[in-house]
Amino acid sequence: MTAMLHIAAVLTPDEVAEVRERIGTADWVDGRATAGHLSAAVKHNRQLAEDDPATLAAAAVVRAALARSGVFASAALPARIAPPLFNCHGIGEHYGDHIDSAIRSVTGATMRLDLSATLFLSDPADYIGGELVIRGATGSEAFKLAAGDLLLYASGAIHQVAPVTSGQRQACFFWVQSHVRDPSQRKILFDLDAVIANLRTENASRESILLLTAQYHNLLRMWSCS
Ligand code: NI
Repeated sequence: MTAMLHIAAVLTPDEVAEVRERIGTADWVDGRATAGHLSAAVKHNRQLAEDDPATLAAAAVVRAALARSGVFASAALPARIAPPLFNCHGIGEHYGDHIDSAIRSVTGATMRLDLSATLFLSDPADYIGGELVIRGATGSEAFKLAAGDLLLYASGAIHQVAPVTSGQRQACFFWVQSHVRDPSQRKILFDLDAVIANLRTENASRESILLLTAQYHNLLRMWSCS
């Protein structure tokens, strides 16, 4: 994948509605509960507790959706996916510039955070502000995606959620430890996978597809680190 990847319609409209219903009546707590020192100083939002039954039920919907997303699998090459969490930014709330730490303790074990993911749950028309702003090599890019769409980005990129000035922004977020740690290697595999898919739809010979698929797996075997 490129430094950032927008994957549309990861959740169906029905799943968005289900997730929003599950988290709608739950207890939102101060988002600083899961932030390190540096992040806590700039984090002004609310989230659901990791062990809240609403979190677990909504996360199950998200996990099932991720499991059937071929684009997510191809781009992230996930070795571990942290349990999805949910946050809410109301009027005046924001999460200033920060990075997501490299190593995190998740359900009793440590994982490396290669990729961060934000799954938008609110209709963009329902709030003003609240863009996910990510610093890249060529400047900052702001994302405000449709409900059910996912943005995947490098955990080490400096990013923020801009202040919400009207309405309310709910989102799901989680982290991924990838089988392939190096982003440029992941990008090569992502593109190669797309070429193989194209060859299939273009009715290329089975032998060509087989040879290219073998090279895909040879690279994955060479580069996978977990
Ligand atoms: Ni973050």
